[in-house]
Amino acid sequence: MKTLRLQLRFLLPLCLVLVAAAYITVPLVDRLTLRWFLRDLDSRAALVAESVSNALSRSESLDNDELQREFHRALRDERLFALALCRRDGERLLSTPAFPPLLSCADAFEYVKHPNAIFSQDQRDLHVASIPVVGAGTDTYLIVLHDLGFVHLRSADTRQYLIILFVVLGLVIALITVVVAHMSWRGWVAGTRALLRGSDLLGPFRPPPELQSLASELRAMMREMDEERRSRMNTETWTPERLRQLLNTELRGEQVIVVSNREPYIHVRKEDGVQVQKPASGLVTAIEPVMRACSGTWIAHGAGNADRDTVDSRDHVQVPPENPNYTLRRIWLSEEEEQGYYYGFANEGMWPLCHLAHVRPVFRLSDWEYYRVVNQRFADAVAAEARTEDPIVLIQDYHFALLPAMLRKQLPNATIITFWHIPWPNPESFGVCPWHEEILRGMLGSSILGFHTRFHCRNFLESVDRFLESRIRLEESTITFDGAQTQVNSYPISIHWPSREEMRRQPAIGECRTSLRAMLGVEDDHLVAVGVDRFDYTKGIIERFHAVDRLLRKHSELRRRFTFVQFAAPTRSALDEYQLFVQQVTLLSERINQRHGEGGWQPIRLIAEHQDSAAVTRHYRGADCCVVTSLHDGMNLVAKEFIAARDDNQGTLVLSEFTGAARELHTALIVNPYDVESTADALYKGLTMSREEQAQRMRSLRAMVREDNVYRWAANMLLDAARLRRSERLNARLDANDGN
Ligand code: G6P
Repeated sequence: MKTLRLQLRFLLPLCLVLVAAAYITVPLVDRLTLRWFLRDLDSRAALVAESVSNALSRSESLDNDELQREFHRALRDERLFALALCRRDGERLLSTPAFPPLLSCADAFEYVKHPNAIFSQDQRDLHVASIPVVGAGTDTYLIVLHDLGFVHLRSADTRQYLIILFVVLGLVIALITVVVAHMSWRGWVAGTRALLRGSDLLGPFRPPPELQSLASELRAMMREMDEERRSRMNTETWTPERLRQLLNTELRGEQVIVVSNREPYIHVRKEDGVQVQKPASGLVTAIEPVMRACSGTWIAHGAGNADRDTVDSRDHVQVPPENPNYTLRRIWLSEEEEQGYYYGFANEGMWPLCHLAHVRPVFRLSDWEYYRVVNQRFADAVAAEARTEDPIVLIQDYHFALLPAMLRKQLPNATIITFWHIPWPNPESFGVCPWHEEILRGMLGSSILGFHTRFHCRNFLESVDRFLESRIRLEESTITFDGAQTQVNSYPISIHWPSREEMRRQPAIGECRTSLRAMLGVEDDHLVAVGVDRFDYTKGIIERFHAVDRLLRKHSELRRRFTFVQFAAPTRSALDEYQLFVQQVTLLSERINQRHGEGGWQPIRLIAEHQDSAAVTRHYRGADCCVVTSLHDGMNLVAKEFIAARDDNQGTLVLSEFTGAARELHTALIVNPYDVESTADALYKGLTMSREEQAQRMRSLRAMVREDNVYRWAANMLLDAARLRRSERLNARLDANDGN
């Protein structure tokens, strides 16, 4: 419509110009054709005169009959009206019958002096010409009268053709204008759209030359705004309130839907009634506080045996139980589905595939099929929960690689942010999955795809490059596939940084130290290091036990003075690999305890139980050292939780270099867990470090985690989503204008 209006604005003046041109041109052409015809008639008259002269010169005297015959012959030309032979003095010697009686020879001589020499009679115009005749004596002239009727007829014809020509010309110009205007509008729209997407190098979408300088200015402006926003973000402290504000300002209070396999609250039936448990999951630790701030809907698998009893008719339950402010929507899975999708494909396939922990991934077709079915089930649930056609959907982790593309089909305008909480392998490792292509296609349904580190982003970009026909822009970190663009960014996840008020409610450090040691049955000055993990083979528990063993061999003075406590939350226990791992770890701890144990003291205490978050915080506060020796870990939030718990600025952190956290927490004691010797040394250093050095290191760690908390993580993603939505809305408007 817009282009049509624009075109009309151009076409109307064009029509007026054409009408004016026709108005001026038609009489001009009339006059011109008349002049041509008259000149033509004059030469015809000369020809007739010549043949009359010839007739006269053939006869000795003026023979009337012969002349009459000659006149009749000439009159066969229908345009010739009449002829007369006149003397210069005005005497008419001979004339054809049609010669007008009112036109004397003298008058005829007068007429020929006028430019057009036209004599009119009975509404008929006659052109008069006089040509001297040779052979008829001196001063004899042939007066030739041509009927101008045919000239008028031809002029009318010419006028008609001329008008038709103008109309056709007008139509052709109009058509060309419309086509050119449409094409340049489309070019402009495509250019602007490409520009907004930052894809000005996408061949046909390159802005037209005349727009290129505007394009680069616009791009520079957008970059500046972006940088300004980022630097503002960097100096800003992110809190739940600030995140809420951001949702209301930048995202106009849009609906936020989170999808994860693990639910944040599990209702479990025990002997003494139904209990609510919070699962041991880094994902839940991070997302839960964000959801509290955003008040959206969280869709997850209802895995608790009392989950069905606590939902309403729409499978909704309001959480957190103590102060409900967001909705948990539970999805029910059959045993086979859980087995195939969760245990099978997600945890026997994807989990070992993405972690370099030397456990072979297992891929079964039946698991893959369940994985597909369950992903579709979640996609349907998101579509059902969406209140608008363009909600913001945050998809979590490796359980839902196919969900983004499935959802894109159902909610094409949704902003889909997929966050991959675990590492992404290199293309060679990833390629062993028989469905690697389908997985990539599924993930590329996302608008934004997030990993913890740039390194994992690069691995992902390289995998796409290896296995799919797509356009990758490394500089912008975007992938264009199947006509849609995915932004691949790193967003290092973090934790809720507890407020002063929350910390005030924590038991004092001394109290925590005492209770931890009391639990172990040791003295108050006993050195304690803790490990807090899910009982998972990626966590490097075996390697850290070897390090404890080595530590005690190297430093016998630590015997009876040091205990390592491993809290290991049971996880995925239905899988052989996990059962085997529990057995190995248990055996190893027993062996080490036998080797070094004396009296009632055992160097390793393995507590294979789920600890609630309050207990975990107490352990962190009571320990001298926290040990994180993952063999491969997306981020590892245990490290950050330990730091957040130590408001006394004491305690040391031994941290594996193979965690995402090691890229941020530089003042921790960074170790390679496969290197038992140096891990043992780091442990020793951690246990014997001076209070001053501990404080120095801990202060810097705390400053880092306080600032880069989970609200900043969410804000970074949501701000990117807001920017994307703004440019998509602009694109939609351009499209609408384009279509109208
Ligand atoms: C990792 C995964 C999470 C998962 C958690 C606990 O942190 O990234 O998605 O929730 O482990 O595992 P589980 O299988 O018990 O949910």
